Amino acid sequence: MQGENERIVLRPPKVEDGTAIWRLVRDSGVLDLNSTYCYLLMCKHFADTCAVAEFNGEIVGFVTAYLPPDQQDTLFIWQIGIDASMRGRGLATRLLLELLKRDVCRDIQFVDATVGPSNQASRALFHSLAKRLNTDLSEHPYFEATLFPSTDHEPENLLHIGPFSLSQQNLK
Ligand SMILES: CC(C)(COP(=O)(O)OP(=O)(O)OC[C@H]1O[C@@H](n2cnc3c(N)ncnc32)[C@H](O)[C@@H]1OP(=O)(O)O)[C@@H](O)C(=O)NCCC(=O)NCCS
Repeated sequence: MQGENERIVLRPPKVEDGTAIWRLVRDSGVLDLNSTYCYLLMCKHFADTCAVAEFNGEIVGFVTAYLPPDQQDTLFIWQIGIDASMRGRGLATRLLLELLKRDVCRDIQFVDATVGPSNQASRALFHSLAKRLNTDLSEHPYFEATLFPSTDHEPENLLHIGPFSLSQQNLK
């Protein structure tokens, strides 16, 4: 009998997944909630660099990412979220590795993501990825708090991972 982790299917998103991704973001309590239209666009135009995790017909995790137009050696992780009931069992890591295994990422040498100072789970996830890829992680100011209209938005610091070269070994 298959374990739960084996029954989770990782795949590129379809536009039909846009609302489920929007719900996961809404329910995360941490991520900035964007319009459904924005998630539909990610599913439509950036499916190659996005992924969802499906379990028993439900979307239980997602990652949205893209290659910035002027940095084709970098995978920029926009948002990643796992349903609260499925956290802490390696699913976010599996989603990130799923993207890095794709053909579109074959020349990627860096992973970038922004995080607020208080998001310990997110920090742990990206530090763990850097360790797995056997490379460095550096942190830099990116979007200051004053750039956001709400007064309680944290600054977003850039976590810059790399350089690395992808191999069968570090993508396991
Ligand atoms: C951040 C998040 C995506 C991590 O998902 P996850 O599937 O639980 O992560 P993983 O199980 O792959 O864990 C990856 C690493 O982070 C660590 N980690 C995960 N959650 C943690 C937490 N709450 N506190 C400390 N470390 C944590 C794990 O121990 C693991 O480290 P290891 O490889 O050294 O053992 C999930 O907590 C989440 O959805 N949070 C809300 C949304 C969010 O904050 N997204 C990130 C900002 S874009």
